[in-house]
Amino acid sequence: MSTPPPARQPVASSIEPVPGAAGHPQSFHVVTFGCQMNAHDSERIRGMLGGLGMTEAEGHDDADLVVFNTCTIREKPDQKLFNQLDHAKGTKRRRPGQLIAVGGCLVEAQKQMLFEQFPWVDVAFGPGQIHELGGYLAGRSGNAVASGATPGGDAETGGPDLQGGAGYWGIGDERAFAAELPVRRERAHQAWVQISMGCNMKCAYCIVPSVRGREKSRPCLAIVAEVQRLAAEGVREVTLLGQNVNSWGRELPVADRIGFAGLLRAVDAVEGIERVRYTSPHPAHMRDDVIAAMAECPTVCEQLHLPLQSGSTRVLKAMRRTYSRERFLELVEKIRAGIPDIALSTDIIVGFPGETEAEFLETVDVCERVRFDGAYTFIFSPRSGTEAAALPDLPHAVKQERLEHLIGVVRGIAKERHEARIGTVQEVLVEGVSRTNAERLRGRTRQNTTVNFAGSAPEGSLVDVHIVHASSETLLGRQVEDAPIR
Ligand code: SAH
Ligand code: SF4
Ligand code: F3S
Repeated sequence: MSTPPPARQPVASSIEPVPGAAGHPQSFHVVTFGCQMNAHDSERIRGMLGGLGMTEAEGHDDADLVVFNTCTIREKPDQKLFNQLDHAKGTKRRRPGQLIAVGGCLVEAQKQMLFEQFPWVDVAFGPGQIHELGGYLAGRSGNAVASGATPGGDAETGGPDLQGGAGYWGIGDERAFAAELPVRRERAHQAWVQISMGCNMKCAYCIVPSVRGREKSRPCLAIVAEVQRLAAEGVREVTLLGQNVNSWGRELPVADRIGFAGLLRAVDAVEGIERVRYTSPHPAHMRDDVIAAMAECPTVCEQLHLPLQSGSTRVLKAMRRTYSRERFLELVEKIRAGIPDIALSTDIIVGFPGETEAEFLETVDVCERVRFDGAYTFIFSPRSGTEAAALPDLPHAVKQERLEHLIGVVRGIAKERHEARIGTVQEVLVEGVSRTNAERLRGRTRQNTTVNFAGSAPEGSLVDVHIVHASSETLLGRQVEDAPIR
């Protein structure tokens, strides 16, 4: 059994009775875990709830509705959520009628456990079902219980109602782009733009395809229209988002199939947008036309997050990454030839099942050859239902030791890469006051490196900054005095 078709239009601005709650929720608080996609989705949740006439509470304890937007990529975020849900039980007791909603990727992976172990959770919705939360609150999206996931089942199969949970909407129901909902952005001059949802890859360690579903691209016209609206609102930097951004558009009707390179060019052409970024591309889909578009489009930044995962061809094969160590290295060469000043960052998993010390050292070697400006490094975490979860896990101590070794290497290289910028002048988009020193400003270079600097310029402006110092993570500088503020 499936729910009624999703409400695609922005949800109503008046609030109707909330089933099961004592009174109408007037205020909300959103807690976000996970990747940029979730950061984007949370901005949509806030926009949607704001559109329903609700105000944003200071924190969990003051809110009539608490929404957890969850991540389940590794075990750690799961644990963090469970701790917060335990805390939520106490808060709910002190604040009768408080509603607890859980959205995001963990819901899809563990819906049964969620309602069984945390029966004070009122409603749960998967990442493609954010609009259903609005419908539920507006009391106009059908009977939540009737959409019934079952303990151990899915939305499609139906069955007995979930204990304690008022409703669940998930992957068995039709998914809608969160990007079609109202938005409340965290930053005035920078915006996320969702271009696709889901992922068709089958990386052996990864839970994303099973929780976000098949890849679905947003039409070019909708994306460009959104970027135009953002530009009119004063946004200067956009980041195109998808699980596998550079395979965007493959399943669109032929007339819309302009390819990711075509999309980059279309977004570049939008008047008022000064910087375009995107994340995350898959190395296997990084075609020459995308590199050419990056090189030729003035707004597309000299920055790329290119997930390596492993530097060993054997491990990459076991991971089902569909490229080899050599192909990755050749790709990096091609990218650097096209865009000489590019900053590359990456994701790496250490301790994939069966990874030998020699194979791990191949990963270290690739890092030394590529010289990434930054890397997110992870210990392999078995995720239920993925191919790699069935393989024998390496001892934690081995994985930990490899992680520490790798972190040392990538930090050292990042520091050298950043130090090479000392003495140069970088264009910085001002983001506000420095987080570490209230006398300084903070912003980012086109390479996406954070700069703390002495100067005076309004948030959202582009300034030239002379770089005087560097660490593995950030740059330090001072604004060039007589250069124009743009
Ligand atoms: N769509 C993105 C990845 C999203 S997940 C992409 O393909 O680049 C972000 C990162 O988490 C991945 O790149 C990978 O390095 C890491 N990751 C994913 N599953 C993991 C697991 N089971 N254990 C450890 N790290 C994992
Ligand atoms: Fe996961 Fe691989 Fe898809 Fe990225 S490309 S989301 S790592 S399955
Ligand atoms: Fe986490 Fe889902 Fe993103 S599992 S990393 S929030 S796609």
